Parts: sequence; structure tokens; C-alpha cells
Amino acid sequence: MRIVRTVADVRAAVRDARSRSAAVGLVPTMGALHDGHLSLVRRARDENDLVVISLFVNPTQFGPNEDLASYPRDEARDAELAAAAGADILFAPPVDEVYPRGFSTTIHIAGITDVLDGAHRGPHHFDGVATVVTKLFQMVAPDAAYFGQKDAQQVLVIRRLVRDLDMPVRIVACPIVREADGLAMSSRNVYLDPAAREQATALNRALEAADAVVRNGETGADAVIAAAREVLARAGIEPEYLELRSPDDLAELDRVDGGALLAVAAQVGRARLIDNRILEAT
Ligand code: PAJ
Repeated sequence: MRIVRTVADVRAAVRDARSRSAAVGLVPTMGALHDGHLSLVRRARDENDLVVISLFVNPTQFGPNEDLASYPRDEARDAELAAAAGADILFAPPVDEVYPRGFSTTIHIAGITDVLDGAHRGPHHFDGVATVVTKLFQMVAPDAAYFGQKDAQQVLVIRRLVRDLDMPVRIVACPIVREADGLAMSSRNVYLDPAAREQATALNRALEAADAVVRNGETGADAVIAAAREVLARAGIEPEYLELRSPDDLAELDRVDGGALLAVAAQVGRARLIDNRILEAT
């Protein structure tokens, strides 16, 4: 695996592969890699000839009171894990390679960014994500790009971006990878002390409780959300949001009719965690 740091070098590497008609897959990440990220790399490896993983802690998607400064960083470890999972190129640009002096363009996706994480983290968050992902697509020009369903709203935002701007890239959404006790893997889980780590298992248990209610035939949003809220309350967690929304456009749902996205965010100890589950009425 090669490590490259400039747009010119990543372009040259991809141009080489493309001249051999290779399919190029991109996995955008902020590093601190875990099995969730690596599942995307493995999927990209299965489906492409050249796999590029980007590692860039994107400052524009963090708010002023968020964890940009303390975000876990360990490039040497990430490089080892990415290579073992099958990446060919690790693209790790410095901040000024991505945002040179005078940078003044923002991509804003309206509507679906007004709810859930967009509402709670603020509009800068998805503007920052959409802008950096647009740039990564321009730099690498992948045939396919791989994202995790862990960030369900992010997948929808990227799909909308690609559709609206006619970007020639296939977006592949991959399932949430969880720890043995159900906690969704996240780079931010390292912030959890043992008590908070235990408390954090309530997020997935709450989603499972809601799922059980739906499988028992109850489809009203209030009852479904109440079942999840009760599990959180028992663990001493007050969610930042816990909402049932359309998995297509994030419209609020008053019942589970076909598929519904139940999404949760909560501060647990020092970590702000998110999780979600698609509920299906049978
Ligand atoms: P990051 O949080 O590093 O996540 C990189 C990718 O890994 C995202 O697509 C995310 O959904 C996926 N991922 C994280 N945890 C996962 C899990 N437990 N199971 C499956 N997939 C998981 O998301 C970002 O970075 C950034 O916003 C980025 C897209 C790189 C733009 O800066």
C-alpha cells in the first residue's frame, strides 16, 4: 500500500490504474480505523481493482464546541489496518492541501440536512461533509464510493448530492458493524470510560426494543418510540433525538408502514454517539 499526500499524487496513481481499465473504489474516512471502516475497505476490495482509502479529519464538519482537537489520530496504526484489509492507496492529505488559503466554496444540500444530526450539530456539519466528499470525488474520481449505514443521514445526503450534481460515482451503503454486545463501532467509543461503555449498550438495546414492538404488531410511532425511550431511561440516558423517519427522505413518520428509520443520538459520558435501525412492519 502506498501513502500519498497530495492531490497530484493521488490523481497520478488513479490515472495509471485507469489506463489499465481498472475499477476504482474510494472509502472516505477520518481515521482511527475500526472494523466498521475496514468492512467498507473489504467490500471495496471485492468490487474494484484499485482501492483508495482517504484519511482526513475534516475540520469543516466539526462545530466550535465539538471534538476536532481531541479526535483520535494514529496514522501508523491506520496504515497497517488499511493495508491488511486490502487498500492499495492511503490518501492522507494535510489540511492546507484540501483547504488552501482563500478556500471559499461550500456545498449545501437543503431539506434533508434540516433534521436529526443536521438540526442538532448545526448546518455546518453536513455542509462540511458534502464539501469534503465532493472534493474527494473530484480528486480521486472513483467509480464507486463506500459509506456506512451507521451514519444513515450522511448516506442520504451523499446520495442526494451525487444525484443532484450528476456525479458519475456509484454510492454503496454498507451495514452497521457492532461490538459483541451490540454497541455500534465508532472512533468516538475510545472516549467511553468503563461505566459509560456499559451505559452505551442501551442505544442498540433501545433500537432492538422498538423493533420487537413492531414485530409484535404495534406500528404507531408514539408506542415504538416510547419502547426505545424506556430502555434509554433505565440506563440513565436522555437522548438528544430519538425519531422515526422515512428511510428515503427523512420525512417524519407517524407509523411504521413498510420500512422506517429509527435514529438516535445521545451524549454518553464524554462521547456523543449515534445509532439507527430500519424497522419493518410485517
Ligand atoms: P468516519 O466517521 O471516519 O466514517 C467513515 C465511514 O465509515 C463512514 O461512511 C461511516 O458511516 C463508516 N462507519 C463508521 N462506523 C461504522 C460502523 N460501525 N459500521 C459501518 N460503517 C461505519 O463519516 C465520516 O468519517 C466523515 O463524515 C467522512 C464521510 C469521511 C467525510 O469527512
